[in-house]
Amino acid sequence: MKGIVFTEFLDLVEDKFGLEMVDEIINKSNLESGGAYTSVGTYEFSEMLQLLQHLSKNTNIPVDDLLLIYAEHFFGVLKESYPDLLAMYNNPIDMLASIENHIHVEVKKIYPDAELPTFNIVEKTDSSLVMIYKSSRAMHHFGLGLMNKTFEHFNSKATIELEKIQEDGTEVKFIINQN
Ligand code: HEM
Repeated sequence: MKGIVFTEFLDLVEDKFGLEMVDEIINKSNLESGGAYTSVGTYEFSEMLQLLQHLSKNTNIPVDDLLLIYAEHFFGVLKESYPDLLAMYNNPIDMLASIENHIHVEVKKIYPDAELPTFNIVEKTDSSLVMIYKSSRAMHHFGLGLMNKTFEHFNSKATIELEKIQEDGTEVKFIINQN
């Protein structure tokens, strides 16, 4: 997992819960990196999972809710860092339908070692989209947060339902209806 995902996460934890919480979750985790991340580095996903699990335990907030909140913050980072990529779209449905064959393809060119999910389109209309998310990382709620912010970015709203295909969250159907 790319370092920027860690550095932005720990910044947000510090912002919301304080530096003590950052120290606490790093110290409780068994991290090969020692908890020192650079935005351009690459680290094991298991480190992110441990940090999330300890934060969840300490705050009583479920991991999925933490991922959702984090993704909403991360969208702002993406918007700042890759404005040209976002500017290629003029509506949220087209943008979300292009993660797989355009957006994440570009990401892979910038970061060849990025670990990305797949989003396969099942059905698409002008105002709706059904996609299957697949990833061993089960970060579907990170996807949900990014989708929420994608609609907000276009001053639009949607109802987004998740249906787990695999109980462990490694395969999830997203049913998206623009309001
Ligand atoms: C992960 C880039 C838009 C879904 C990532 C990562 C990067 C990235 C750098 C981390 C990869 C790693 O750590 O190895 C971008 C950029 C975007 C964009 C530049 C737009 C300009 C989106 C959108 C979604 C999305 C709109 C909406 C569903 C995800 C998910 C992951 C991810 C779910 C977590 C990894 C996983 O589940 O396996 N993306 N992304 N991305 N992205 Fe995107």
